[in-house]
Amino acid sequence: MNPTRHILVTSALPYANGALHLGHLLEAIQTDIWVRFQKMRGHRCTYVCASDAHGTPIMLRARKDGISPEALIEAMSREFERDYADFLVRFDNFHTTHSTENKTLVEGIFSALDTAGHIQARTIRQAYDTQEQMFLPDRFVRGECPVCGTADQYGDSCEACGSTYSPADLINARSALSGTPPVERDSEHLFFRLGQFDAMLREWADSGTLDDGVRRKLNEWFEAGLQDWDITRDAPYFGFEVPGHPGKFFYVWLDAPVGYMASFLQLCERHPELDFDAYWRRGSETELYHFIGKDIMYFHALFWPAVLHGAGYRVPDAVFAHGMLNVNGEKMSKSRGTFIKARTYLEHLDPEYLRYYFASKLGPGVDDIDLSLDDFIQKVNSDLVGKLVNIASRCAGFVHRLADGRLAADLAEPALHAAIADAVGPLAEAYEGRRYGHAMREIMALADQANQYIDLHKPWKLAKEPGNEATVQAVCTQGLNAFRSLTAYLKPVLPGLAARAEAFLQIPELTWEDAGRPLLDHRIGAFKPLLQRVDPKTVAAMLDDSRENVSKAAAPEPAAAPGTGDTETETAQITIDDFLRVDLRVARIVSAERVDGADKLLRLELDVGSGDAERTVFSGIRSAYEPDALTGRLTVVVANLRPRKMRFGVSEGMVLAAGPGGRDIFLLAPDSGATPGMRVT
Ligand code: 2FM
Ligand code: ZN
Repeated sequence: MNPTRHILVTSALPYANGALHLGHLLEAIQTDIWVRFQKMRGHRCTYVCASDAHGTPIMLRARKDGISPEALIEAMSREFERDYADFLVRFDNFHTTHSTENKTLVEGIFSALDTAGHIQARTIRQAYDTQEQMFLPDRFVRGECPVCGTADQYGDSCEACGSTYSPADLINARSALSGTPPVERDSEHLFFRLGQFDAMLREWADSGTLDDGVRRKLNEWFEAGLQDWDITRDAPYFGFEVPGHPGKFFYVWLDAPVGYMASFLQLCERHPELDFDAYWRRGSETELYHFIGKDIMYFHALFWPAVLHGAGYRVPDAVFAHGMLNVNGEKMSKSRGTFIKARTYLEHLDPEYLRYYFASKLGPGVDDIDLSLDDFIQKVNSDLVGKLVNIASRCAGFVHRLADGRLAADLAEPALHAAIADAVGPLAEAYEGRRYGHAMREIMALADQANQYIDLHKPWKLAKEPGNEATVQAVCTQGLNAFRSLTAYLKPVLPGLAARAEAFLQIPELTWEDAGRPLLDHRIGAFKPLLQRVDPKTVAAMLDDSRENVSKAAAPEPAAAPGTGDTETETAQITIDDFLRVDLRVARIVSAERVDGADKLLRLELDVGSGDAERTVFSGIRSAYEPDALTGRLTVVVANLRPRKMRFGVSEGMVLAAGPGGRDIFLLAPDSGATPGMRVT
């Protein structure tokens, strides 16, 4: 057994301004697989994350919603935690960058950098909105591209011709907030002198721990010359005020990565055996890895190690950058329905399908990953259901029928077991090196071998002849051992399926080493289906729903700027004609019941009046209502919504309710005087 490693791992902090989508999940799943693998191997591996809570877009969104930024980020953080947990992403801690831990750490880092001469004040000219009385981030200035003349472009780059420029260059510039022409105004900002870290960063880049893709990018930046970095923003701004500089705030990208430390610090407060300094002081023996998207490499591979080093902390051992997620070969698109939110996916499909599919596509490089939905259906059905689960379902029944549920005392085909057990080292190396796609292919090749063994011996045929009981038991013992070992190998990717397999086999939690040890002379439990096939109709319904989500939330304005934290979502306007197409009716809730496997959902049977048949509708109101309390209550429903196939059944409408969520979700008042079928006008 190798010595225990102490490893701290992070995923990029999601910006607390919009729902998680499958792009976020690509990264979290990649990280979670790596962390689960390390834990299974007995290492002390800690995985922290947080919501990225500061910046202008959050301040403006909260203002528009009429709530405080604190209330907004609190609600978003809770939503993030639920979504991640439902995808089986298991953090050791999930915090927020708007925390006392983060404030203290950022202030300490800034003071250390300032004392060491790494901070410089400089006056800059910036676009200013005189009506809103605030400086405008580049993406909040719109106008015609100075190069190609295309209308309505952002202040930093043109989407049509790709030119980059400054907001002052735009023709007919307008503030995206007030629509008024911005003026230029001076302001003193503080700069982090990145150029002072050139030698240190070059040494880090050559230390041998970084992937080629990250090193190549660093070399490009070294050649271009390192630019000092503006780390402050003017009030009004939602963030931490810079001590000694009233009206100046730390830029969100300074305190965001410090959020990794802050989340870990909060965990240390709960776990005295974890020593913050042992993980962050310079010269520490522990390991530190950041999983990120390649679009935010600049922040993590240049600024972050330099900031850490300048403030006296250790630098990361590596930054693991992955490519962006495409769906069906193209950038995620709201109009095509391929901008899939985490929650929309979960309402239709099992999270482990996606975990497996991503694993099968992931490697250590920065190439983009394509979620091709046909390939997704095919791969999950063929690999997980057709190959892996099939081994168990072909063997379990015979062990019960002919051997009283007991596995044989010996292995009939030690060579098959050895072929699987021998993969333990190579597969561990593949997981360690994030070559998950390679690992999945190897595991499926072993599953093929196991299935071929069963095909060859045909237990279903043997079982027909009396006197073959021991042979059938031997073949099925061999098959179930293969299934158990392969499940152990897949456990970092499929923890839910592994747990169900452990229950069926009646074994303790599988460890990595279990893959090489046979399970003999042991009683197994009854076989229950471990995974359903993916139904293409369900995938189609998910895409339909994603399209529907878009009609509820318009294109962002200003649009999402990946990696800048500058995103904003607005509510779409619809025409009166759109509205008149919606058939709103009063319905009586005939019955309500919980839905297994869906924390937030209730299955409602509704009487929509007019002699229509009762309708089944799934509604996310469980946090506010016990099912029994709903029987007989009245609600408004969208009666002409196209039926949607969800993971738990078909939903034939949508219940309308109001309120902030949690326990406060309000239906019609019981004494409203409404009756089923009544139209809502
Ligand atoms: O790109 C983003 O969405 C950022 N919120 C990521 C921050 S990662 C870290 F620095 F906090
Ligand atoms: Zn242009």
